[in-house]
Amino acid sequence: MPKLWLHEVQYMSLFITFEGIEGSGKTTQITLLKKALQKKGYSVLITREPGGTVIGDQIREVLLKRQNKKLVPLAELLLYEASRAQHVQEKIQPALKKRKIVISDRYSDATTVYQGVARALSTELTDKLNRIATENLKPHLTLVLDCPVHMGLGRVLKRTSSSHLDRIEQEKISFHRKVRQGYLRLAKKEPHRVKVIDASGPAKQIHSNILQQVLKKI
Ligand SMILES: Nc1ncnc2c1ncn2[C@@H]1O[C@H](COP(=O)(O)OP(=O)(O)OP(=O)(O)O)[C@@H](O)[C@H]1O
Ligand SMILES: [Mg+2]
Repeated sequence: MPKLWLHEVQYMSLFITFEGIEGSGKTTQITLLKKALQKKGYSVLITREPGGTVIGDQIREVLLKRQNKKLVPLAELLLYEASRAQHVQEKIQPALKKRKIVISDRYSDATTVYQGVARALSTELTDKLNRIATENLKPHLTLVLDCPVHMGLGRVLKRTSSSHLDRIEQEKISFHRKVRQGYLRLAKKEPHRVKVIDASGPAKQIHSNILQQVLKKI
């Protein structure tokens, strides 16, 4: 095979999202997955929610600022969806049209679980706003990194002192437990799209399980 072929860029329109509780390892695993896919020649775009755009990052600041304790659940929901609408139209859709593999650190399932389950807003409302904000764009594959809440929060606390936790990280343990259960329930409801990955072991092992799931979709 001519050497040039090894460097040929492969184009593939694929939308992958990572979900899971705080500190489950999403960012770590996204970085490893990006490297592995780029090594295979794919064009990869990494992005995140809330944020992912200049406007979305400003909304992110409001959402995560620990001093914003007065933010009511409905306003929180609408801000996440505003950031998401901007994200989908400005960044995700154009990248998929260019046949990139788009990997987002959180997406609409986070709203289903954090606002719908943990904040107990109506599922009808979160589903409807998710559909509107995403223009019905669903991920091809969603990886839920699952580990016990004390493990995820323990990892976060190793990285950040408790006085610097963001508005969501500083929520009660019971809130994070609801989030974890919410994700597990979602995976049972949509088993073809949502895959649960055991995120309690070493990063390398988790990465190989993730890569296996991703390669099945390519
Ligand atoms: N498998 C692992 N075992 C032990 N530590 C890990 C593992 N994966 C990641 N970590 C460490 O745990 C911390 C949290 O990981 P990471 O930031 O990837 O999680 P996250 O899900 O993106 O968190 P957040 O929800 O805060 O964005 C980091 O300091 C990271 O180095
Ligand atoms: Mg992260």
